[in-house]
Amino acid sequence: MPFHPELFIRAEESFIYTSTNQRFLDWTSGQVSTILGHGHLEVVKTISHYAERLSHIYSGMVSPPVVDLATTLGLFLSTGSKANEAAIRIAKLVMGKFEIVGLGESWDGTTAASSGAQYHAAMKGYDPLVCGSHDWASCGSLAAMIMEPILSSGGMHVLPDGYLRALRGHYDKRGMLLIVVEAQTGLERTGSMFAFEHEGVVPDNLTLSKTLGNGFPISAVVSSDKIAQTTHINDPLAAAVGPKVLTIALRDDLPQRASKSGLQLRQALEGIRAKNRSIGDIRGKGLLLGMEIVDGENNEPDLALGGLLEVTGLYPIGAHEREIPHTSSTFRLVPPI
Ligand SMILES: Cc1ncc(COP(=O)(O)O)c(C=O)c1O
Repeated sequence: MPFHPELFIRAEESFIYTSTNQRFLDWTSGQVSTILGHGHLEVVKTISHYAERLSHIYSGMVSPPVVDLATTLGLFLSTGSKANEAAIRIAKLVMGKFEIVGLGESWDGTTAASSGAQYHAAMKGYDPLVCGSHDWASCGSLAAMIMEPILSSGGMHVLPDGYLRALRGHYDKRGMLLIVVEAQTGLERTGSMFAFEHEGVVPDNLTLSKTLGNGFPISAVVSSDKIAQTTHINDPLAAAVGPKVLTIALRDDLPQRASKSGLQLRQALEGIRAKNRSIGDIRGKGLLLGMEIVDGENNEPDLALGGLLEVTGLYPIGAHEREIPHTSSTFRLVPPI
């Protein structure tokens, strides 16, 4: 994807600003990490407190933020891929088996084992990958399945009601673990703290990343008591951000607010769809919503137009409006406000 021609120099709350002072509503936020908005004062204070006093120490030395986070979340790391990698390693170790099943189009990251368990275009050119498996019937050493509860980057596919519950039943029967990846869905966004709660299912390993740090690189693996492995290696600075984000999400009732605002956003998107034949399905949960871009004639995905929106969506073009093919009215491309 080409870079935006302008430099982005500042972000505040839900907005980002370019060097020519164009202001954009930020639909991207480092792949939707910033659930509390940019520059949240309490997060900034936590970061500056630890940056000044205790940013990095040897991992064999324990600090209060590390204790706090380890007590709440178990094992913590820095990226989503690493958390998934660790969750897979834990599953193999605990189960004494080596095959991992992934759900098509789930996005689990770019490290060896996490990318080995997924099946999408981003794998192209990186073969051969670490052996995983997706064929239930022929697997003989199934340790775990790893999946997102909503296939977010894969097209905002919400799993059918009961799907996760049924999978849980199958895993228990087959002696496998369930690893749920809540990089994008975790911490309030879908209307509950975690998306798996909508199904009343408890995973064996839960991985958290993007939203946990509100954009700061921190990730975690949360294990059931059965598995509980409490290794922790990290810096106080990063460790301090996770509990702060969790506290704010709970204290400010963000799941409820995401549910309510999600309805408003969905209605607004449906309003846009009523006027634009280029918009197909609108799906997701809470504030984690996606909008399909289709060709208006056959309702097939319009990759060219989708690409155009992705690339130009942040571009201030002309009067910030542009005629989009197949639409009866002018489509507003993520306009500067
Ligand atoms: C669902 C999911 N899993 C894993 C990852 C990988 O995280 P990271 O880029 O921090 O390694 C991402 C990143 O966007 C993600 O959305």
